[in-house]
Amino acid sequence: MKTELNIPRHIAIVMDGNGRWAKRKHRPRFMGHKEGVETVREIVKSCSKLGVECLSLFAFSSENWKRPEEEITNLMGLFMMALDREAKSLARNNVRLQIVGDLSKFSEKLQDKIKQVEQRTEKSTGLRLIVAANYGGRWDITQAVQGLAKQVSNGDLTAEQIDEDSITQNLSTYQLSENGVPDPDLFIRTGGEKRISNFLLWQMAYAELYFTDALWPDFKEGELMKAIADYSSRQRRFGKTSEQVIAEKELAETNRKNQEIN
Ligand code: IPE
Ligand code: IPE
Ligand code: MG
Repeated sequence: MKTELNIPRHIAIVMDGNGRWAKRKHRPRFMGHKEGVETVREIVKSCSKLGVECLSLFAFSSENWKRPEEEITNLMGLFMMALDREAKSLARNNVRLQIVGDLSKFSEKLQDKIKQVEQRTEKSTGLRLIVAANYGGRWDITQAVQGLAKQVSNGDLTAEQIDEDSITQNLSTYQLSENGVPDPDLFIRTGGEKRISNFLLWQMAYAELYFTDALWPDFKEGELMKAIADYSSRQRRFGKTSEQVIAEKELAETNRKNQEIN
């Protein structure tokens, strides 16, 4: 029996393994990053086609500044080039691109380019593509808490009013739109490592985790479908029992059928 795929609303990916991909081919690490951009293009297309609402990609972590200067320069150049080259087709394909992270550390030229591309795609109503650059989960929580602390010191909020919702609403990802951004349903990390590396820490509290040995430049549509199939086979319980989840699903199904009849 063919089981129907459950498409996640939000997929978050740590795109890892570019360097090793290049090394295996006896090419410089940069070539791995370049090929990684091709994968981004393909995965964006696939997610659009599948009706995924939101795709978050970890492109550069707050810890990646520790890399050799040459690699950082190359990565920034590639980022700039990719923004330049992709802006038009993103807009044409109804994809909205937004960048999250502490952008103040980037050159002014890059910051301007980011603004330009964000503006160019802001009317898109299809896939929401969030690229995390100079992003860290701890940075995000810290800046959210700072925002709340300012409201408390201004007298706009009391310490007791700080709750999970207000922290969520002050996260950089949430603030990308008026209606916020749903938490990731599926987290994917390519490249074989089994760690989160400071990606969306708060937002991923209940994400389904999927780790694959495939290196990012090799992670094409077939690999994405494997991850989604794996995700579809899981039961998300959010603290409830398995029996509760099954009963709720059956009730929703019955209500749906009754509505169809009426
Ligand atoms: C991920 O690939 C891309 C970035 C961190 C920018 P890596 O560059 O980490 O590749 P590996 O882990 O060395 O193979
Ligand atoms: C995580 O990859 C960050 C990005 C993919 C941008 P890294 O390759 O930097 O992760 P660690 O340091 O090995 O955990
Ligand atoms: Mg790596």
